Amino acid sequence: MNDQITARIRSLKKEKNAVILAHYYATAQVQELADYVGDSFYLAKVAKESPADVIVFCGVSFMGESAKILCPDKMVLMPDMSADCPMAHMVQQGKIAQMREQYDDLSVVCYINSTAALKCQSDVCVTSSNAVKIVERLESKNIFFIPDRNLGGFVAQQVKDKNIILNDGCCPIHAEISAEQVQAEVQAHPEALVLAHPECEPEILAMAHFVGSTADIIGYAKDSEAKEFIICTEDGVEYKLRNDNPHKNFYFPVSRPCCPDMKLITPEKILDVLENETNQMQVDEETAKGALIPLERMLKLAE
Ligand code: 13P
Ligand code: SF4
Repeated sequence: MNDQITARIRSLKKEKNAVILAHYYATAQVQELADYVGDSFYLAKVAKESPADVIVFCGVSFMGESAKILCPDKMVLMPDMSADCPMAHMVQQGKIAQMREQYDDLSVVCYINSTAALKCQSDVCVTSSNAVKIVERLESKNIFFIPDRNLGGFVAQQVKDKNIILNDGCCPIHAEISAEQVQAEVQAHPEALVLAHPECEPEILAMAHFVGSTADIIGYAKDSEAKEFIICTEDGVEYKLRNDNPHKNFYFPVSRPCCPDMKLITPEKILDVLENETNQMQVDEETAKGALIPLERMLKLAE
């Protein structure tokens, strides 16, 4: 990486009391620059608890939006404003109201990969690391799980005593991982364990030895006695997997799942927003007020 950029970022961070947060799907260069790297839940908590005045969020918009809602007094800078998660929008207009009308005893459970406007209409947020635990703790019998049908389906498999209604959204990147691709890796590496993110399609989850968030997959690979793993999630996790486990082997499905939005973030863009304080995340007051309720409920229920 360009040493001058790194040095300039370091000095600006000090000057402005700023921290850099990055998701595991960011590029290796960006992860190297970050003060905190993690899954969505960890990053939301770090943002909320950080004493920094400025947060540079190296992730997609729902992540920066959630950070801004959780800490409205901090300046949240997005290195690339166009980095967005397509799944975050995948709930049909009017669908939540329709469900609320249909069921008396309903909780709307909103995956954090969603717009603030959707969070506003929901009862609780979840991430892939706490969705099962939180849904188990809800009193309602009926759950409308938005927007991801795959994470929702995974939760439904674990929590049998709820009626989980799925919404037809999904992550286009994880949906591209096919059973044939994973089968080919299993055949080539018969000793390898399959680790999958719950955003994968059900047939992939059925083949997996372990299903979990990006941080959970990384933790599982580190703690496992196994030496080979087939990783069914976005390829940004490879950086941490290889750093933590230099003597283990990691294989990705041949399509090498890659989130183009996460990869928009570069060290140059981080420097630019830090220097000029551009790309400040803004959430209007009413939306922020509404979305804070399910986000805070998540933090409480996940304890
Ligand atoms: P994690 O919360 O597991 O990091 O997942 C975020 C995400 O966007 C997965 O596609
Ligand atoms: Fe969204 Fe999928 Fe990218 Fe995650 S990997 S940010 S769910 S598009």
